[in-house]
Amino acid sequence: MKKEGPGIHIGPPVWGCDFFDRKETIAECREKLATGSIILRAPRRYGKSSVMLYLRDNPGEDLFPIYFELEDHFSLTGFTYEFIYKILENDTSLKKKFSKSFAKAFDNVQEVSLWKFKIKLKKLIEKEGGWEEWKERIKQLIFDLLNNRKPKKLLFIFDEFPLMLHNFINEGKTGKNEAVKVLQWLRKLRHEEPFLEKVRFIFGGSIGIEKVISYLKATRTINDVPAVNIGPFASPEAEDFIQKILTAKELAVEPKVVKAILKVTGTLIPIYLQILLDSVIKESWNSGRKITPALVKECYGKRVHGPEYKCYFEDYYERLWRYYQDEEAKCAKQILKELAAAENGVPADRLFSIYTEITGAAGDRDKFDLLLSALESDFYIERDRPEGGIYFSNNWLKDWWRRYHGV
Ligand SMILES: Nc1ncnc2c1ncn2[C@@H]1O[C@H](COP(=O)(O)OP(=O)(O)O)[C@@H](O)[C@H]1O
Ligand SMILES: [Mg+2]
Repeated sequence: MKKEGPGIHIGPPVWGCDFFDRKETIAECREKLATGSIILRAPRRYGKSSVMLYLRDNPGEDLFPIYFELEDHFSLTGFTYEFIYKILENDTSLKKKFSKSFAKAFDNVQEVSLWKFKIKLKKLIEKEGGWEEWKERIKQLIFDLLNNRKPKKLLFIFDEFPLMLHNFINEGKTGKNEAVKVLQWLRKLRHEEPFLEKVRFIFGGSIGIEKVISYLKATRTINDVPAVNIGPFASPEAEDFIQKILTAKELAVEPKVVKAILKVTGTLIPIYLQILLDSVIKESWNSGRKITPALVKECYGKRVHGPEYKCYFEDYYERLWRYYQDEEAKCAKQILKELAAAENGVPADRLFSIYTEITGAAGDRDKFDLLLSALESDFYIERDRPEGGIYFSNNWLKDWWRRYHGV
């Protein structure tokens, strides 16, 4: 039987009829892409990849999209490989042309299986020439792709681009140089004919790209690219989202139930709504109870932060160790613990004393401010409320943190 509406979909990016059309965000992306590239910013699990996949699958007449998952690349070689492979995958006729230049490595290129081709390509990139040559070859491939396919524009979608740069940085000095090289090259490409008109990029990222790039002292390389932020749903959007899921499940609820879902969720992030709906529907099925505001409240208190859904937020904790220096991560952990335990906000001075307890004499106010900026741009904290003080970025994450990392 054909499914009429969205199902509950928790965890991986959403696609097809499960995708709730974030019309405003998508319109903003399209509008900005008409004239240039964009940074797509949002915390992990806010729905970036879903939007990027939607744009890949619904690019409109003008754009020919190619989607890259960059989170697992740690070097320029990996990035080069991914770039070339994806172009060739999207236009296999280019494989032959490309391999002509490297006849030895690609004997009988049409006959080798895909995975053999991949291995050969990897070896080739490692051996034949450095970045200076490869970046020209990539440019040539982009050029050929434009000539072959004749799209009005190519759209390269780089999912988790700042995480890839961070991975480079973690590899040491060479990696740091490589990150700057990629940024410089991409900037040059964006400004060069015919690519200026014919190539667009989406740089998607769940850690603050500004932080990574300013660490590299390379802000200049990206300051021509405007950002589109993906935030929570507005209330009417969230109501529509909830109603569509309930209707697809043939469940009718009173309007006060929808209001209760909005209230209990707080910050209306799609995955929070999905989890709450999932737990309420399961609880109602299991217990035979009607879905009421009281049941919604009970599920928030007892189920949504339970083991079933714990894993979806664990990355927020783990990445502190991955993307912050050891001492910074220790301080961040203590600060977040303090914020999770506090009823309201916490004054910056109180957090600074936690910071100096850990860093000792080394703790200086400027470095502390930098850490707070990083936590803010990585979406852990909020610090611009009119009443002052520092807060966890939203209550759902705060409750999750208190439960799992509050001791
Ligand atoms: N447009 C959407 N429609 C429905 N659910 C969504 C949407 N965007 C995000 N979600 C929910 O959020 C989860 C994470 O989405 P994803 O796109 O992977 O986020 P990100 O790339 O920002 O980490 C999905 O599994 C789904 O539960
Ligand atoms: Mg993603």
